[in-house]
Amino acid sequence: MAKPLLQIALDNLNEKDAYASITQVAEAIDIIEVGTILICAEGKSIVQKLKTTYPNKIILADAKIADAGKILTPMMLDSGADWTTLICCAELATIAGALEVAAERSKDIQIELTGYWDFDQAVAWRGLGVDQVVYHRSRDAQAAGVDWGPADLDKIGRLCELGFKVTVTGGITVDDLKIFAKYPIYIFIAGRSIRDAPNPLAAAEAFQIELARLWK
Ligand code: 5RP
Repeated sequence: MAKPLLQIALDNLNEKDAYASITQVAEAIDIIEVGTILICAEGKSIVQKLKTTYPNKIILADAKIADAGKILTPMMLDSGADWTTLICCAELATIAGALEVAAERSKDIQIELTGYWDFDQAVAWRGLGVDQVVYHRSRDAQAAGVDWGPADLDKIGRLCELGFKVTVTGGITVDDLKIFAKYPIYIFIAGRSIRDAPNPLAAAEAFQIELARLWK
């Protein structure tokens, strides 16, 4: 199986802190996520700044778009994002519109699976041509003590079988990676476990080493 990519989530509260995080670890990271929190704090300009600073990295704008797909998706993509996210409760028409404007730009969208969704929706997303989903244990669920379990793995396996490129995220640590090792995961996102580590670069490198060990 191909080695999954490593994405850092910049859920910093401001631009200065975001740059303090990314400058320490960029060399060990495949994808830079401009987190929802950072976009809310700084607006689309931070997407453009990060793409200008890191033109060779994939930039993901985690906008979690719920509506107005043909307005908000170009807002992110034309600011320099290669990909942006829509939330799973978005109407199919919103997702179709977002896909259309992304394809016009040779860019992509991801459906973020936070909160309720079901496999009828997932089949419909595939029917529209969606390639990427983000399986997300929400920050608030994690804080309430929700751990990874067999139900998560079953859903991740089914999403892979449907042909999605699956990203996994939500408080992921290096020790968690082995739980997912039998699946062809496309991307793992780590935010706090890299940003808040005593040595963020060493933390990112530890992810890459474990990904290479488990997916070969
Ligand atoms: C992804 C997100 C977060 O940015 C992601 O879950 C990573 O953050 P952390 O590893 O700190 O939980 O919303 O969709």
